[in-house]
Amino acid sequence: MSFRAVYEEAMQNPEDFWLGAAEALDWIRAPTAALDRSRAPFYAWFGNSEINGCYNCVDRHVENGHGNRVAIIHDSPVTGSVTKLTFRELQQATARLGGALRARGVGKGDRVVIYMPMIPEALVAMLACARIGAIHSVVFGGFAAEELAARIDDATPKAVIAGSCGIEPSRVVAYKPLLDSALKYSAHRPEFCIIFQRDVLRAELVSGRDVDWNECQAGIEPADCVAVRGSDPAYILYTSGTTGKPKGVVRPTAGHLVALNWTMKNIYDVDPGDVFWAASDVGWVVGHSYIVYAPLVHGNTTIVFEGKPVGTPDAGTFWRVISEHGVKSLFTAPTAFRAIKRADPDAALIPGFDLSCLEALFLAGERSDPDTVEWARTHLQVPVLDHWWQTETGYTIAGYPWGKEKIPVKLGSAGVPMPGFDVRILDDECDEVPRGELGSIAVRLPLPPGCLPTLWNADERYRDAYLSKFEGYYDTGDAGIQDEDGYCYVMARTDDVINVAGHRLSTGQMEEILSDHPDVAECAVIGVHDQLKGQLPLGFLCLNVGCERPEDEIVGECVAAVRGRIGPVAAFKQAAVVDRLPKTRSGKILRSTMVKIADGQEWKMPATIEDPAVLDEIATALTRLGYPAQ
Ligand code: COA
Ligand code: AMP
Repeated sequence: MSFRAVYEEAMQNPEDFWLGAAEALDWIRAPTAALDRSRAPFYAWFGNSEINGCYNCVDRHVENGHGNRVAIIHDSPVTGSVTKLTFRELQQATARLGGALRARGVGKGDRVVIYMPMIPEALVAMLACARIGAIHSVVFGGFAAEELAARIDDATPKAVIAGSCGIEPSRVVAYKPLLDSALKYSAHRPEFCIIFQRDVLRAELVSGRDVDWNECQAGIEPADCVAVRGSDPAYILYTSGTTGKPKGVVRPTAGHLVALNWTMKNIYDVDPGDVFWAASDVGWVVGHSYIVYAPLVHGNTTIVFEGKPVGTPDAGTFWRVISEHGVKSLFTAPTAFRAIKRADPDAALIPGFDLSCLEALFLAGERSDPDTVEWARTHLQVPVLDHWWQTETGYTIAGYPWGKEKIPVKLGSAGVPMPGFDVRILDDECDEVPRGELGSIAVRLPLPPGCLPTLWNADERYRDAYLSKFEGYYDTGDAGIQDEDGYCYVMARTDDVINVAGHRLSTGQMEEILSDHPDVAECAVIGVHDQLKGQLPLGFLCLNVGCERPEDEIVGECVAAVRGRIGPVAAFKQAAVVDRLPKTRSGKILRSTMVKIADGQEWKMPATIEDPAVLDEIATALTRLGYPAQ
């Protein structure tokens, strides 16, 4: 059947389509209906079923005779080690940790925050939660204590599971002090913390609160997989919105497993037993879906890579990992390839490796620039396939159905809508724009299985953020074009979200932090184009009248404040002090015009500008900072 026919079938008869896809999973009580619309716009998929996520990702493979198949390869150039875990070992590890959590009172529906580096124990912790029906919430290691605290306060976990440290190429990041400090900020107190000690930096445990990973599992009765309702949350993953308060995206258990399992063959074209590598981090949605749940539910071997595309030790690391482990399908962000291309423009490091196992490269997380795509295609000699998705959906909205039909690849396009995603390009009046014209990208409700049914404890915020702008649609927050053949081109965000090295960050949140500085009267943060990271945040500060402190000192404090409060991942390193910000007569800061000036794009003087001279001042400040970049 052609992909077009599959897509139409999913649109015409979503119930049958998704119930069919659900047959690939093992159910405790199989669903008899797929979609419950009774609480629309809060839709529930597979609500009348019972299932266990860990069972489907781990135990069933053991029971089906694949216990000795490698489930996880931990390849860690930062520690110089490669370790492997079979499905049987993973089953035992999740049962032990699940047992330890259960013995301390964690059960169905309880939340567990996980703050761990890229080690197999992070996956064990996630799956152990799934095993006992607890809801995990993984926090990326590059976030600061305050961000961790915000998530702890929102998710109110019974337990936290943390690693003692993470290892960045330039330094060892002590996670435990960050956790201790987060628990000082947070109003909510978890009952206990489980700490996984890494030899490179062991942490001091707080007596009465912290327990050692190994000790708490000693002599514990292993936990079995419990039944959860299909629509029960599997996890909460926080993502940036327009304000400082992150949005807790809820992932429903069954829909997520059904959809992810479908994507492994149909999009990524891998079969059970193949090695799949998503070079991302378990702290992001790509990690949740394609390091953990999708490859494991589908019976693939997943790679947990603790390193960077360059510098660990060089730009040949990806090629080593691919050839050493026989990777069939690689998924990463374009920024990783830009980093490799910059370090080794002629791909001189490739010939030392046999990459014949690699069949396709998938890119997502940010717009794939044609230069990078071409470079990868030329040097890897495999199809390079962009695809577009978000934390909220958990998998591809538009992409290339490579395992179903090898449709023509259009450079610059993220591909065509995937089953269940009825993508429309709308104007501000909620009317569809003609094909080929730019507009807001929206998806007609209901969204397919696995997408967020709401935000954690925030139904109203869910409505406001996603459903209020276009009646009957989910607003993706992205702007783009759909061409005559249905291919989507995702061009920009329509909100204050920027994308730095594939990481989603809120400029609004950075502005809130800068405004807290006692000498800052007003500020703006914009995302400017960066050759490597796609975008970088750049601040503009207006100081209080009469402030006589050196500007450099204030800028330094602001940079430190953003790093200290959001974390190094924010990559906020530059700000300019200016007298005024360019505004419309109604007081709106003209951020998009500032971006155009910084990026050296053509721009028009906005008709509504209050004082055109301010833009000259901004241009001068940008020139001082080296923008537009040459
Ligand atoms: N724990 C602690 N700190 C972390 C961290 C973690 N897990 N991950 C990143 N950081 C820190 C880095 O050390 C860096 O700190 P610095 O400012 O002191 O140098 C900062 O956060 C920014 O990190 P990163 O975005 O990784 O930038 P980089 O300059 O270290 O590396 C790339 C640039 C392109 C190589 C890197 O971003 C990369 O590999 N990207 C791959 C894409 C990806 O994983 N995308 C995720 C979504 S698919
Ligand atoms: P995140 O939720 O962190 O995965 O970020 C999602 C956002 O990243 C999307 O809303 C887009 O703005 C951007 N994005 C992800 N994939 C792509 C892509 N293939 N092309 C363009 N933008 C993308």
